[in-house]
Amino acid sequence: MYSENPRRDTLLFMRASLTNLLALFPFYLRLGNRSGRGRANERPEDAAAYFLRCVSDYFAELAVDASFVRGKRVLEYGPGDTLGVALLLYAHGAETVHSVDHFPVHRITSQSAAIYRAILESLDGEARARAESAFVEPGNPQSGFDPAKIEYRVTRHGVSGRRRHYDLVLSRSVLALVDRLDETLADIAAALRPGGVSIHKVDLSSHGLDRDRPFDFLTWPDPLYQLMYSRKGRPNRLRVDRYQALAKAAGLRIRKLAPTGHLSDAEVAFIRPRLDPAFRDVPGELLSWLGFWLVLEPY
Ligand SMILES: C[S@@+](CC[C@H](N)C(=O)[O-])C[C@H]1O[C@@H](n2cnc3c(N)ncnc32)[C@H](O)[C@@H]1O
Repeated sequence: MYSENPRRDTLLFMRASLTNLLALFPFYLRLGNRSGRGRANERPEDAAAYFLRCVSDYFAELAVDASFVRGKRVLEYGPGDTLGVALLLYAHGAETVHSVDHFPVHRITSQSAAIYRAILESLDGEARARAESAFVEPGNPQSGFDPAKIEYRVTRHGVSGRRRHYDLVLSRSVLALVDRLDETLADIAAALRPGGVSIHKVDLSSHGLDRDRPFDFLTWPDPLYQLMYSRKGRPNRLRVDRYQALAKAAGLRIRKLAPTGHLSDAEVAFIRPRLDPAFRDVPGELLSWLGFWLVLEPY
C-alpha cells in the first residue's frame, strides 16, 4: 500500500479501527459535528447564508426559480444538524419537506435556533410568514418544527422507505458518504412520483482523509479501509462511473452530470498507479473529478 510514513499510517489504522468499533454504540454517533453547521464559532448569519446558497444552487442547476417548489413534496437526505434547506424550501411554498438521515445529528439548540432566526430575517412577505408557520409555535424556532410541515426521521442507512411520494428529492455532500449507494438510489427511484426530479451535489473529496497527496485515501486496500471507517459516515470512495452504473440499475435516467472540479493531470498521473485495484479501472478523465452535480429522473 502507498505510504509516505508507514509508522504514522500504522498508528492511524489502529486508532481508526478502534473508533470504528466504538461506532457500534449510539453514544459515539452523537459525538462530533458531521454537517459543519451549527458550530458555536460560526456566526448564525454565515450559516444562514450557506443554506440560502444551497437552495439557490439547487434552483440554478435545475434552471428553475423558487416558484418551482410551490405545492411540491420534498425529500432531503442527510440534512446535517440544522434543517436550513428544509425551512427555506417550505418558505418558498413546498407542501411538505421531509428530512431523513442515518445519523441522529439534528436537534434544536440555541445555536441552531439562532440560525433559523437569521434565515427568517432573510425572508419577507409570504415566504417569511410560511417559514414562521413551520414551527410548533409560529415564529419560535425553540419550539421545534411542526412535523406536518417539516419532518425529520432517522432511519437505517438513511433511506426514506416511501413509495411514489415525492416531487423533488435532493441532497448535498451526502451521497459520497452513504454506506449503501445502491440502496439510496433505489430509494430515490421508489420515492419519486412520476414526473418528479432528484438533484444531488456530490463531494468526491476525501473529507479530510488524505494523508499526503490528493486522493491518497483511495490507496488504502478496501478491507483495511472498511475496518477503519465503515460505520462512521466517511466517504464510500465510489467514483462517478459507479454512480452512472448504479443509477441506471435503479431505473433512473441521468438528466445532468457536471463536474464541480478536477485534480490536475500531474496529480492523477501520480496517484493512479498507487490506487487500490478497485479504482485502477476508473476511466481516464473521470478519476480526476473532485465532485459533481447529478440530476436524476424516473424513466
Ligand atoms: C457532510 S454532512 C452534509 C450536511 C448538509 N447536507 C450540508 O450540506 O451541510 C453529511 C450528512 O450525511 C449524513 N450521512 C452520513 N452518512 C450517511 C449514511 N450512511 N447514510 C445516510 N446519511 C448519511 C450525515 O449524517 C450528515 O447529515
